Amino acid sequence: MSVWRIKPVSAFEADMKKSDLKRVLTKWGLTSLGIGAIIGGGIFTLTGIAAHDYAGPALALSFVIAGIGCLFASLCYAEFASVLPVEGSAYAYAYGTVGELFAWFIGWNLILEYMMGATTVAVAWSGYFVKLLHLFHIDIPIYLCNDLATATDKCLAAGLAAPSFAFNLPAFLITWVVTAILVKGIKEAASTNNAIVIIKIAVVLFVIIVGAFYINTDNWSPFIPEKVSVIGEDGKETFKFGFGGVLTAATIVFFAYIGFDAVSTQAGEAINPKKDVPFAIVASLVICTVLYILVSLVLTGMVKYDQLDKAAPVASAFSGIGINWAVFIITLAATAGLTSVMLVMMLGQTRIFLGMAKDGLLPKFFRTLHADFKTPHKSTILVGLIISLVAALTPIDKVSEMCSMGTLLAFAMVCVAVMILRYKKPELERPYKTPAVYLVGTLGVAFNIFLMCFVRKETWIAFVIWGVIGIIVYFIYSKRNSNLNKLDHEETL
Ligand code: ALA
Repeated sequence: MSVWRIKPVSAFEADMKKSDLKRVLTKWGLTSLGIGAIIGGGIFTLTGIAAHDYAGPALALSFVIAGIGCLFASLCYAEFASVLPVEGSAYAYAYGTVGELFAWFIGWNLILEYMMGATTVAVAWSGYFVKLLHLFHIDIPIYLCNDLATATDKCLAAGLAAPSFAFNLPAFLITWVVTAILVKGIKEAASTNNAIVIIKIAVVLFVIIVGAFYINTDNWSPFIPEKVSVIGEDGKETFKFGFGGVLTAATIVFFAYIGFDAVSTQAGEAINPKKDVPFAIVASLVICTVLYILVSLVLTGMVKYDQLDKAAPVASAFSGIGINWAVFIITLAATAGLTSVMLVMMLGQTRIFLGMAKDGLLPKFFRTLHADFKTPHKSTILVGLIISLVAALTPIDKVSEMCSMGTLLAFAMVCVAVMILRYKKPELERPYKTPAVYLVGTLGVAFNIFLMCFVRKETWIAFVIWGVIGIIVYFIYSKRNSNLNKLDHEETL
């Protein structure tokens, strides 16, 4: 069946030799891109709700659990990146192992991770930017920093008349700033990212080091608060705290880890992809895991978990101990931090499209490179246009789970695919080998499927609809235009 045709590893190698992208990224440049994509809204916001409602001081344990789960996936990504150092990431890995339809499906779902992720982050960026301006007593009208539905809710809640028009201008503008940097070149994108990563890490270290002086160890006890049963408005019983609560918190903070896999989309721009991309995937994840665990220990040590602010836990913990200027620094770091998450996510999206277009599954438009900048400028501008409009006009915050869903599927798929490739082609040269691959791969799949079980029903429905649209597009366009299809035809003639 042609939908199961597999792209041979030799074809990937030939593609890489032909690549026109500029190879400028070093080992640490790649690691910095990983950190740029990982540290963002997750650590600065989700820690509040995760500790306050579900894990208590054991938030650190939730970060350990989510981190270990991601580590399994990252080790599998690392092996693939060493064998197939191509732009397509999980899409390409599936194409080289399971088959075309499956690869298409993964690529289609990566749009959820990267494009939906960047859109969600653009809206979050706007929120932080508005807070930052507010610290300088500058306030943007509600209808100029929200979509219409959100602006209406906010105006009504504040006792104001509902607006007839609204547009999230900051989200729109930041998307175009990021788009311009990406069109200009990978070097510019990498240096912008490096500058932001330095600010982010400095602020995270500031939180850890300064916060450590304000830890009251009494706040850590009990480390895992006793399980509490809560009856929701719909009459359903849910549980908070206890070990179950720690697991639920792990699914929430999973979002904070998303991004390490984006490094694998940069293989085409890496100087030494076979060695450096695997290193950067694992290194960026390990560095962020350590920082996250320390931040959560400090936060829950500074403030009793039930008094943590759910919206801005890190900034409020510092204003609570009287260091008000820290609020400015933390808000600034979060704003800058979200910019680099957008940068790497949009970069990743265009490189995945590039990989798919090179294989004929997407139109040529997605693989046209700018004559001077050597970036896929047309595709970057299209991605920027869609993200800017969706972020400016739609209430996107509720669909961020779709981003996690697409990511979980991709992670699970990569764990399966790495085991298939090891079994089918044990002789391939693997500069990096996943240790105990069958154990790590199986645990990775189990962990990601486990987390998918916690996703809301509405998200599952949206996910299935998205998947069906993707399969229709495949049969209408991609199957016929696939390079492998053309080869099949040539062979039959
Ligand atoms: N990991 C990224 C963040 O936390 C997506 O914003």
